[in-house]
Amino acid sequence: MCGIVGYIGKKEAYPIVIEGLKRLEYRGYDSAGIALYDGSDLKLSKTKGKVADLEDRISSEISTKGTVGIGHTRWATHGVPNDVNSHPHYSNSGDLVIIHNGIIENYESIKKELIKRGYTFKSDTDTEVLINLIEDVKKNEDVKLGKAVQIALNQVVGAYAIAVFDKKKPDEIVVAKLGSPLAIGVGEEEFFIASDASPFLEYTKKAIYLEDEEMAIVRLKKGVKIRKIKNDSLVDPYIQELKINLEQIEKGGYEHFMLKEIHEQPNAIKDTYRGRLRVKEGIIKMAGVDDNLERFLNANRIIVVACGTSWHAGLVAEYIFEDLARIPVEVEYASEFRYRNPVITEKDVVIAISQSGETADTLAAIKLAKSKGAFVFGVCNVVGSSIARETHAGAYTHAGPEIGVASTKAFTTQITVLTLLALKLAKANGNISISEFHKHLTELELIPNKVAEALKADDHIKTVAATYKDAKNCLYLGRGFNFPVALEGALKLKEISYIHAEGYPAAEMKHGPIALIDDQMPVFVIATKKGHYEKVVSNIQEIKSRSGKIIGIVTEGDEDVKELADHVIEVPETLELLTPLLTTIPLQLLSYHIAVMLDKNVDQPRNLAKSVTVE
Ligand code: F6R
Repeated sequence: MCGIVGYIGKKEAYPIVIEGLKRLEYRGYDSAGIALYDGSDLKLSKTKGKVADLEDRISSEISTKGTVGIGHTRWATHGVPNDVNSHPHYSNSGDLVIIHNGIIENYESIKKELIKRGYTFKSDTDTEVLINLIEDVKKNEDVKLGKAVQIALNQVVGAYAIAVFDKKKPDEIVVAKLGSPLAIGVGEEEFFIASDASPFLEYTKKAIYLEDEEMAIVRLKKGVKIRKIKNDSLVDPYIQELKINLEQIEKGGYEHFMLKEIHEQPNAIKDTYRGRLRVKEGIIKMAGVDDNLERFLNANRIIVVACGTSWHAGLVAEYIFEDLARIPVEVEYASEFRYRNPVITEKDVVIAISQSGETADTLAAIKLAKSKGAFVFGVCNVVGSSIARETHAGAYTHAGPEIGVASTKAFTTQITVLTLLALKLAKANGNISISEFHKHLTELELIPNKVAEALKADDHIKTVAATYKDAKNCLYLGRGFNFPVALEGALKLKEISYIHAEGYPAAEMKHGPIALIDDQMPVFVIATKKGHYEKVVSNIQEIKSRSGKIIGIVTEGDEDVKELADHVIEVPETLELLTPLLTTIPLQLLSYHIAVMLDKNVDQPRNLAKSVTVE
């Protein structure tokens, strides 16, 4: 989704804003723009395309002088991606300029009113309507910029993170947030504004995260003043000391963030269970669970809400929770759950899973569940994110920043946290024997090394990728714990290579998809030794007898599938319920290599956003 960057201070704003936009490229976007104030005038440059296109245009269009600037990467919602619809947008007078992440839902009615009052519009965007509404309020009510922004925001319906600048008041930037993230970096006589901290990490580790319905006036000399948008009350700024460093958000020698993040998984999983998994003591420590154990133990059922890859992690968790802790689990798309009047009671526990912690549908599902009295537990990666704050308790995945749009380490670390949770509950409710509990803990501790082993098949996987890169359709099959992995494998392929792919429970194949199978159809089958192995082998026979191409993801040393399949990729042996942590790895690498071979933009696939802050 859109990215926002701003700077006000003593340094040249241009390099800070442009490099900041590059750091936010991972969020997904289709156009970019910048506005700079050079001490006397405001200059603006914007274009459809990438930040690199913007740099080209700026060099021939405007001077880059100035110590105040705001920049934007736009993920189109209202109006196609083109130069005119790109942000920033001027107000009609040319005094005010805005960047916006989010959607103003009632913009059409406001636009009609403004047109009646003589306003004109160049773009199709809701954002241009908002900046003119602010201008209109400022003029008619004769108020300062901050007040005008506040009054205008009280008239709009929707979601936003905005930054507004007035060239007649060049020592301040006004920002506000509802539903989309906004951080303020606090430096020495300088301030930064951004969708996340990555654009300003090298300048300051001090950050203020605005809460929903808060706005801030960021003044060069007077600092940051935060108010509630609705009731105007003042809020004490809470300045956090950030723990992440620049290295964590750079590529570290890898060609793409996605590849780096795939290879980070052994350490990421270790970081997820560090301090929690205590094999010698025979315990799992999770403060958010310990403090609320009764809520979990008295739960009638667990409802998982999530989207995309996180939803797939929820599906894996369903199998694990039911198997270990014998608690009924339902897994819901957050986008469906929030709109279908679900039956939720105070006896339900809702687990919300989200890498970014900002996904609009998941956030709305949480609010709905809370309003019905359910206890909501969050599994997030981004510390301090909206979902982490909105849930009653939770457990971070500690995977480190995930920049590649396609989720990889988020998935395996989510499964790790959920496995820890299931084991902890199984022990607490007496559904697992001490020896079984210990066996699972011991094996979970070995998983990072086994993931590292699985990663060693990379060269072989590259060869397999080269064989199937030109396929037009692919099928992914798995059973039990590995059925969701089949869904995830298919999602990874389609989102970065744009090859159509479907995931299915292997036995469902004969209820429809089998009609698709011919000698042009690669079928990726997860066939690990412990997961209904014989049944999956029968499914493979069915594919073979219809000339489908078979790529088996098998347990090390497997001979049976090897005989039937065109290719096999081995993963180390582990407990059945932990196999998703290993079988996912070759599927991630396959998708990655196919996308690279097809010359696709692996880290920023078309049309996709890393953090989906609109519904
Ligand atoms: C797929 C992918 C998306 C996200 C989904 C949810 O690779 O990245 O499907 O999983 O948008 O995002 P989070 O987990 O941030 O809520």
